[in-house]
Amino acid sequence: MSNSQLSTKHLLGIKYITTEDIELIFKTATEFKEVINRPIKKVPSLRDVTIANVFFENSTRTRISFELAEKRLSADVVNFSASSSSVSKGETLLDTVNNILAMKVDMVVMRHPAPGAHHFLSKHIDANIINAGDGTHEHPTQALLDAFSIREKLGEVAGKNVVIVGDILHSRVALSNIFCLQKLGAHVMVCGPATLIPKHIDKLGVQVEHDVRKALEWCDVANVLRIQLERQDIKYIPSLREYALYFGINKKMLENLEKEIVIMHPGPINRGIELTSDAADSGQSIILDQVENGVAIRMAVLYLLAGKRG
Ligand code: CP
Repeated sequence: MSNSQLSTKHLLGIKYITTEDIELIFKTATEFKEVINRPIKKVPSLRDVTIANVFFENSTRTRISFELAEKRLSADVVNFSASSSSVSKGETLLDTVNNILAMKVDMVVMRHPAPGAHHFLSKHIDANIINAGDGTHEHPTQALLDAFSIREKLGEVAGKNVVIVGDILHSRVALSNIFCLQKLGAHVMVCGPATLIPKHIDKLGVQVEHDVRKALEWCDVANVLRIQLERQDIKYIPSLREYALYFGINKKMLENLEKEIVIMHPGPINRGIELTSDAADSGQSIILDQVENGVAIRMAVLYLLAGKRG
């Protein structure tokens, strides 16, 4: 495995890591991807490390992927879910995490609905903190696995046109992807209804497009996001049916393009809304490759951050 080190002891967001960090994570993930495709998928790298997966929000992919990554690295793993914990009795975030750490936990993987919760914790506790999604802010390992999957499919990320389509306003995946893709030299566009695109997002150096057909003509890769109804306190679109009509992507639209583009989605997919099944399951889709690469990326992040302990 690589001997180099990350510039940081936490993974709080892509904004706070360097391009060299991303390249090191990719190099290490490539080595781990080879490991997890062997008959014996386990290495002893984190045998002396205890990791707590602390999830205050629902998750399928991220949680399973982190747990699998930790077990493949031979770490000891404890899982914490807010819905079945004493958080419902009024315990604070800091008290909850300090109690977990009192049981000699070395690393905390956390998903929390409050943007910045991980920054707050990193100032108060000694363990390595990994952001598994903080509200509408960042989801750094998702962006890393997305960019890694683009590189695997297209050879490189630099110079590629990547459009992120959908509910940009409520998406932590969008912001982390914008930072990650730009650090790697891609051109980034966001596409969606005006109500779901943050004002002034162009200040981040992204193009803005409201016509999904034009966006598909422009791009090499379309990363399609779901409408996050659970984060919408008011109505941002008239109806899901109308959203599907104007912004949904189907196989026919892909076939009408003069080139073959790559389709991605972080999951969970609302089939028939942002993406029809014939597009999601087409040969152009790398959605399940993203999930597979997620384990290797998370192994790399855990392994490299463990090297920053002490
Ligand atoms: N992509 C993603 O974060 O999925 P989960 O919410 O299932 O973890």
